[in-house]
Parts: sequence; C-alpha cells; structure tokens
Amino acid sequence: MKPGAVTNNQFFAILGAGTLVFVGFIIGVVVFVILNIDKELDYNNATNATAKSSLPPLTDVEAGAHPLVAAPPLSPTQERGKQVYANCVACHGDNGQGNKTTNAPRLAGQEEWYVKDQLEKFRNGKRGTHKADAFGAQMPPFANMVTGDSVNDLTSYLKTLDGVAETQATGSAEAGKALFAAKGCIQCHGANGEGNTAMHGPKLAGQNAWYVVTQLKNFKAGARGYDPTDAYGAMMKAMAAAQLAAVDDKGLDDIAAWLQSLEQ
Ligand code: HEC
Ligand code: HEC
Repeated sequence: MKPGAVTNNQFFAILGAGTLVFVGFIIGVVVFVILNIDKELDYNNATNATAKSSLPPLTDVEAGAHPLVAAPPLSPTQERGKQVYANCVACHGDNGQGNKTTNAPRLAGQEEWYVKDQLEKFRNGKRGTHKADAFGAQMPPFANMVTGDSVNDLTSYLKTLDGVAETQATGSAEAGKALFAAKGCIQCHGANGEGNTAMHGPKLAGQNAWYVVTQLKNFKAGARGYDPTDAYGAMMKAMAAAQLAAVDDKGLDDIAAWLQSLEQ
C-alpha cells in the first residue's frame, strides 16, 4: 500500500461521517422550512390584538419587510421617471404629497392627462407668466426639464406615489360641500371632486386645501386662465368669475376643506 493511501476501514469511516453530516444538513433544512411556514400561518391566523402584538409590526410589513407582500419593483419606465422626479421632490414632496412651505400642490393621484396638460401650459407661457402669479412663476424652468419621452416616464412614476395632504384644512368641509354643489362645480369636477375627463375638469379630491384656495383666487383675479389660446383655463376662469365672485375667503376655505377631506 502507498503511503497516504486510504484503507478500506478508513474509507467507510469517512463515508459514514459524510453521510451523517449530509443527513443532518437535510434535517436542518426541513426543520427551518417547517418553522418558517409556521410563522406565516401564525401571521395569517393572528386575528386578535394580543397575537398580533407578538408579530412584526404592520409598518415593517408595509415597507416590504414581509416576504409575502414585498413592494413591486419599478418598471424601467418608472425608474427613468423617478430620475426625472428627483428634480421635483424638493417642492412637491418625496411621495407627491405637496408642500405648504414651497406652495407646490399634491401630484400623487392626479390624472395623467391633466399633469401633462399643465406641464405643457407652463412650458408655453399659458400658466405661470401672469405678473400676479409668483408661485406659478416657479414652475416653467422645471416644466422645461420634462419633454419628449420623459413626460410619460414621469407620469408612470407619479402613479406609484401615494402621498396625502399633510396640513390640516381650516375651513368647514360641511359648508364647502354645499357650496361645491350649489355653485355647479360638480358639473366639471364630479360630485366628489373625482374629476371629469370629458369636461377637462381635473381631480380635486385630496388636494391640499391651501393650494386649492390659491388657485381659486388666481382664477378669480385672472392670474390663471388668462391666455386666449388656453381654452380650458379660460373656461375655469369664466366659472370662477360667474360662480365665485360672491363667495368670500371663508367660502373658498370651506370648499377647499371639503375637497381635501374627500380622498386620502
Ligand atoms: C421650486 C419649487 C418647484 C419645483 C422644483 C417643481 N415645482 Fe411644480 N409646482 C410648484 C408650484 C409652486 C406649483 C403651483 C403653482 C401655482 O400656484 O399655480 C407647481 C405646480 C405644478 C403642477 C400643476 C399641478 C396642478 O394641480 O395644477 C405640476 C403638474 C407640477 N408642478 C409638476 C412639477 C414637476 C414634474 C416638477 C419636476 C420636474 C416640478 N413640478 C418641480 C413648485 C415647484
Ligand atoms: C365648465 C367646467 C368647470 C366648472 C363648472 C368648474 N370648473 Fe374648475 N376647472 C375646470 C377646468 C377645465 C380646469 C383646468 C384648467 C386648466 O386647464 O388650467 C379647472 C381647474 C380648477 C382648479 C385647479 C385645480 C388644480 O389642480 O390646479 C380648481 C381648484 C377648480 N377648478 C375648482 C372649481 C370650483 C370650486 C368650481 C365651482 C365654483 C369649479 N371649479 C367649476 C372646469 C370647470
């Protein structure tokens, strides 16, 4: 026998030990899987608060920490849109919720066609160029960043955002609801502010109240909807002149409070 060669006895001893390690490993895997299935069942079966409190908090689950409900990955288009939206976050919020400090409205949940229309208006001087509209004047340079394919990239990314208004509205939602109906707003914006695509009326439900108030004042003062080639802006300006002339600031606050309360 050559030095270093394995005898029959040694060979079977090694084989035996190897088999034991292998079987041990398989048992380990099976036990691990069973324990984890058990956790899933525990989670799904937990219906009372006591049982749930011993489980991971729901926020972890929503954040995608739970293997069963991981957040869907972004598509390539949405990924590109996210890059575009990086230019907007500082003013409109990381989740499209809007920001009172920058006077920038909520974009999450807004209709795609309307977002595209408004960007086009800012680019073409139909909105944000009136001397009495200092807030609107901030948008044209950013609207100019979104052209060609990046418009669709942006709107497909906006659909993944679900930020909601973060500041408390000051008006009375109940009084606002009555005004909204009495002044004929539902004709173009829907009974619950959901918007009306055929009438080109944007969705107003869930919008920040302070922003709605600014826009109503702008339309009333002719600082928005002033361009003769902006048919739909002019339509809303005419509506504001006809229906809101007699409505005071308190009334505008009420309408805005009702709209903000509608959809979160
Ligand atoms: C410097 C702050 C600022 C930045 C950055 C900014 N916005 Fe705005 N945006 C505003 C303000 C303020 C308004 C509201 C103007 C007004 O009062 O009429 C607005 C309005 C809008 C509107 C109209 C919404 C509506 O309901 O009519 C859209 C759409 C919009 N922004 C998209 C964008 C996009 C897309 C970007 C990034 C490419 C962007 N904004 C970057 C401040 C900003
Ligand atoms: C005849 C249809 C019509 C009626 C009625 C109407 N609107 Fe509008 N509204 C529009 C259109 C169209 C726009 C979008 C204008 C644009 O493209 O710039 C608009 C825009 C708005 C905006 C701006 C939304 C944003 O995101 O910037 C607010 C706020 C609004 N309307 C509130 C009202 C209220 C309140 C009433 C009732 C007094 C009313 N509207 C009645 C058609 C209408």
